[in-house]
Amino acid sequence: MLSVQNAYVEFRVAQTKKWPWSPAGIVHAVNGVSFELEAGRTIGIVGESGCGKSTLIRAVAGLAPLVSGTVTLDGEQVDYGNRTSMQRLRATMQMIFQDPIASLNPRMTIREIVTEPLTFFRPEMGAADRKTAALAMLERVGIPPAQANRFPHEFSGGQCQRIGIARALVAEPKVLLCDEPVSALDVSIQAQVVNLLKELQREMGLALVFVAHDLGVVRHISDEVLVMYMGAQMERAPAADLVRAPQHPYAKALLSAVPVPDPNIRIAPQMLEGDLPSPMDLPPGCLFASRCPHAMAKCIKARPPMVQREGHEAACYLLDDASAEQEPCLSDS
Ligand SMILES: Nc1ncnc2c1ncn2[C@@H]1O[C@H](COP(=O)(O)OP(=O)(O)OP(=O)(O)O)[C@@H](O)[C@H]1O
Ligand code: SF4
Ligand SMILES: [Mg+2]
Repeated sequence: MLSVQNAYVEFRVAQTKKWPWSPAGIVHAVNGVSFELEAGRTIGIVGESGCGKSTLIRAVAGLAPLVSGTVTLDGEQVDYGNRTSMQRLRATMQMIFQDPIASLNPRMTIREIVTEPLTFFRPEMGAADRKTAALAMLERVGIPPAQANRFPHEFSGGQCQRIGIARALVAEPKVLLCDEPVSALDVSIQAQVVNLLKELQREMGLALVFVAHDLGVVRHISDEVLVMYMGAQMERAPAADLVRAPQHPYAKALLSAVPVPDPNIRIAPQMLEGDLPSPMDLPPGCLFASRCPHAMAKCIKARPPMVQREGHEAACYLLDDASAEQEPCLSDS
């Protein structure tokens, strides 16, 4: 349903220039990410703040500039400069944003908000049918139709997120991109919204891309998980396998911070030392080398390739059979 290959996203930013003719700074926000997603399946995207999760899915949705790479949606490659291709993308792919209240127009009633996508994507529907479909969708996400003439500020954060979900799904897209849809909500509401998304996915066969900080939530909802660091993919694996046996040193450190609901299992959180590289000046080698306890001399020279091992795909020299003869760790010498 969705295939993203070798996606790169850069932003030009103003910076203090040494000379007036010095070039503008470039933030390398996404550096060669690839994944595929089937209908009815979920891929979770995790990684620490600033690693490029939002930028990646915004680029897929056409809301950030894709410098290179391809996105194929339901068998057709998306041409972001082409109006017809973008209209097809908008009808097929919708997005739920992180801030539930800011993502709704405060001047429109929630009925108008949920009806609007039908006006664009289902022009064949009459006004009465659109209204009926919008009210049914609101009811489906747990908002009583009697409240449909209210404005977004009259609802709680969790209700606004439900309204955002209703708006995204009312025109029956095939792919839903969710940018931390539950991070602004408290735990009990998070569970309701996540379970609602799962139910709707089952009913509609949606392909879900789910970005989150909370690995517990990602583990619950995802079939597969992609771990990002400094805009690049470090590991991709089925969710259960990644949680049970992460392969990449960064994925291991990230997962060691997730509490395990078993008092007999104690995993000490692994503290990462060292500085993150600047996204405006990426090193030539492994992007994680400055914080990796296993970094070797070759790690700082060239990017490790993606290698497959036991269903995991990870970018690390430690997993590469061809370089199995490991060099001593830099931290040991
Ligand atoms: N419009 C922009 N202009 C310049 N740099 C940007 C822009 N948007 C994002 N960035 C930079 O791109 C990088 C990735 O940002 P992004 O918002 O995708 O991170 P994230 O993983 O979603 O973080 P968080 O978990 O905090 O939401 C960051 O270094 C950020 O500063
Ligand atoms: S390639 Fe080297 S620096 Fe990068 S994660 Fe693997 S061991 Fe660590
Ligand atoms: Mg983000």
